[in-house]
Amino acid sequence: MTEDKIKILLLGSGGRECALAWKLAQSPELDQLFIAPGNAGTAQYGTNVALNPMDFEQVAQFCTENRVDMLIVGSEDPLVAGITDYMDNHVQGLKVIGPNKYCAQLEGSKDFAKQFMQKHHIPTAAHLSVTAQNLDEGLRFLEQQQAPYVLKADGLAAGKGVLIINDLDEAKAELRAMLKGKFGNASATVVIEQFLKGIECSVFVITDGKTYKLLPVAKDYKRIGENDEGLNTGGMGAVSPVSFADEAFMDKVRTRIIEPTIEGMQGTGSAYVGFIFFGLMNVNGDPYVIEYNCRMGDPETEVVMPRIKSDLVPLLRAIGSSAFGSTPVVIDPRYAVTVMLVSGGYPQSYEKNKVITGLDEVEDSIVFHAGTKCGEDGKLLTSGGRVLAVTSYGDTKDEALARSFESIKHINFDKMYYRRDIGFDLK
Ligand code: AMP
Ligand code: GLY
Repeated sequence: MTEDKIKILLLGSGGRECALAWKLAQSPELDQLFIAPGNAGTAQYGTNVALNPMDFEQVAQFCTENRVDMLIVGSEDPLVAGITDYMDNHVQGLKVIGPNKYCAQLEGSKDFAKQFMQKHHIPTAAHLSVTAQNLDEGLRFLEQQQAPYVLKADGLAAGKGVLIINDLDEAKAELRAMLKGKFGNASATVVIEQFLKGIECSVFVITDGKTYKLLPVAKDYKRIGENDEGLNTGGMGAVSPVSFADEAFMDKVRTRIIEPTIEGMQGTGSAYVGFIFFGLMNVNGDPYVIEYNCRMGDPETEVVMPRIKSDLVPLLRAIGSSAFGSTPVVIDPRYAVTVMLVSGGYPQSYEKNKVITGLDEVEDSIVFHAGTKCGEDGKLLTSGGRVLAVTSYGDTKDEALARSFESIKHINFDKMYYRRDIGFDLK
């Protein structure tokens, strides 16, 4: 590296990593950006390298050989499996942006997260953790709840481990099925939760373990169909800011949730470093934690990054020094909306390798790639269910949305589908 510039390796291959790469690439403090494995979009902002984020030895070797200064971990799997601890022990002088294995349990184990919140009086739904040993207690707990019933696999289940069921008998049957391995080992413990009625939002912070910076608040839209109907997906779009996350609400989020979480982690002797994603439910003006994630959200990052005006690299570099607290985060006051273009059939079976056209004609939006690859003849091809995230700014949410729709008119691939009502439930 040159005196004041750094080399960064970003792990991941989705829309979130494309938005992070877009943001990092704008920094004058960046010497080189590598993305592993990346996609056709991230290749515009840096060098894609064929590494498996779960192969820690391979990642460590690459960091050593290429004198990487900073590793940013995009998704939860490597963090929950302990990539931060591994790199700390195997690569000298590498700064890892992401919590260690202990802290990543906030996402990796719902039972751990629930116990942590209970201990630190952080508002969340009432719950009971159930294993094969206390199945009867679990069945009785279900009987005491009102429908709908919320069952969560304790461990990571690729976003599929949460069931919300209206019928009590069905909920009991599902509890038994989960304990018998419906989600493999991830559901050997099941968290039964009280159902919270309200509206959700995603709050993001970046922390050095002591202090924190609030990033723009966003809301994502997970269902495949308009009006939030149909199957769950990895996310069909997002909006930032969120109208109900006003100053009064965010004051409660800071004092009741963010600060006790960061302080609570200090109390374990293992400070949390990296991004924290608080999935919150607004219940009549009071925030409750639905889930913690130990990384940024997707597709929220595709609206959060565009709203950060200040350089991200100095902020990340300041982690670990006293400069972090005084490094500013400047937020763009405009709205950002992203609309996800997905493959027909998704989230069930869908076809890949469809030719994508028209991206060159998009002028008023930023197109982040989620599931794309470069074909042998240089053509851009679909390679996943979620293909492109089309992000636009606007002085209002509707203006931003209209801009994305105008841009989408230029883009085409066979059986392309998207929702036209992103942000419909917000003012
Ligand atoms: P998760 O995988 O934890 O994000 O859960 C998936 C979705 O289930 C959340 O985004 C919520 O929409 C919903 N959900 C989870 N827990 C609850 C709860 N206790 N009450 C109501 N909805 C919930
Ligand atoms: N958008 C939700 C997530 O990233 O988990």
